[in-house]
Amino acid sequence: MEIIEQIKHYEKILSAYGALEGGGLTRLLYTDEWLECQKRLKEEMEKLGMKAAFDEVGNLFGLIEGSEEGVVSTGSHIDTVVRGGNLDGQFGIVGGLVAIKNLLEKYGRPKKSLQLISLAEEEGSRFPTVFWGSKNVLGLQDNEAVKDIKDSEGLNFVNEMHRCGFDFKKDSKAREVGSFVELHIEQGNLLEKLNKEIGVINAITGQKRYRVKLRGQANHAGTTRMEYRKDAAYGYALIVKAAIEKAIEMDPILVCTFGSVELIPNTVNVVPGECNFSIDCRHPQGQVLDEFASWLEETMVQIAEEKGLEIEIDKWMDERPVPMDEKMIALLENTAKDLGLNYELMHSGAGHDSQIFAEKVPTAMIFVPSIGGISHNINEATAYEDQARGCLLLENALYKLSY
Ligand code: GLV
Ligand code: MN
Ligand code: MN
Repeated sequence: MEIIEQIKHYEKILSAYGALEGGGLTRLLYTDEWLECQKRLKEEMEKLGMKAAFDEVGNLFGLIEGSEEGVVSTGSHIDTVVRGGNLDGQFGIVGGLVAIKNLLEKYGRPKKSLQLISLAEEEGSRFPTVFWGSKNVLGLQDNEAVKDIKDSEGLNFVNEMHRCGFDFKKDSKAREVGSFVELHIEQGNLLEKLNKEIGVINAITGQKRYRVKLRGQANHAGTTRMEYRKDAAYGYALIVKAAIEKAIEMDPILVCTFGSVELIPNTVNVVPGECNFSIDCRHPQGQVLDEFASWLEETMVQIAEEKGLEIEIDKWMDERPVPMDEKMIALLENTAKDLGLNYELMHSGAGHDSQIFAEKVPTAMIFVPSIGGISHNINEATAYEDQARGCLLLENALYKLSY
């Protein structure tokens, strides 16, 4: 299938930036490899005849001007998690290039302008902020909230943004997006389990993220009896156990992850005096998520008190579950039916830029199956036939919206 060759072509080009030995990508916001990838993408957009330009913060827009008023947008992100795969985010960009290329070849100039957006940050993997790109597109950014944040190496967000040649947007004007369709890999195993080719997304899960600091007392590992210790690792372990068991007991689709942990001083013969860790919890119903989060916050304070530890809890992300636009969902369902695609209407357990777009413009998402449900992992993969089906559905949905 020619579409598969096109997909492979663009995936190969973009996957060169931030490539890891042994496969996969690490391409974090405002790093050299991220910037170079965005610049290369700009060239590829221009080769397709798009007018391509960055905004102040580094979002990249490729535009095919229509013959009439109005815009239709697609896009995703090229930042990755640490040791991520080649498809999360990047597939939506590749799909956008392929779909628009084929539309232009088949039908020429659209009525409504077609816009491909490569968003400056979706993962929240480098700095404790998330959806920086899409929030800036829509004028929803909070510049104050990112002024003092740093990455794990102590590098400041603003300095890194400046180093890449970008800066804060001076106003909160939204850019014209029109409507937004995002193509993405599923990152779970539902489609595979149900033997479906496509997911049409009706809602995106709610999500909260925390940074927590436990402070005890560093002390000698040989001379400090257990009863006299203020051991930050012990407090951490109790919190992890309590939270995971509560999540399992409360609801089968509630998820809670302790993905990052740092002990200080982190050495074999010292009782850890400090523990810094992350929490990510999600549920598609806001009420269930709120209930779990309140329980978790209270329980952490209680455990810290019992073990003689100080605790600081910073909830830096609190996103509500977001429904997709009903008309856009219907458009994707009907288009999938027209193409004879076997689809499932489902919610997304991952966060996506679409949840930000959905606050302002009609938005919908297309998923393709992930092999083994594996994602945020260098082994993330989707069969090329499935990738091609996703691109074809995107192309046909964009056709209905813009021609
Ligand atoms: C982004 O991929 C997220 O859901 O963590
Ligand atoms: Mn993503
Ligand atoms: Mn991701």
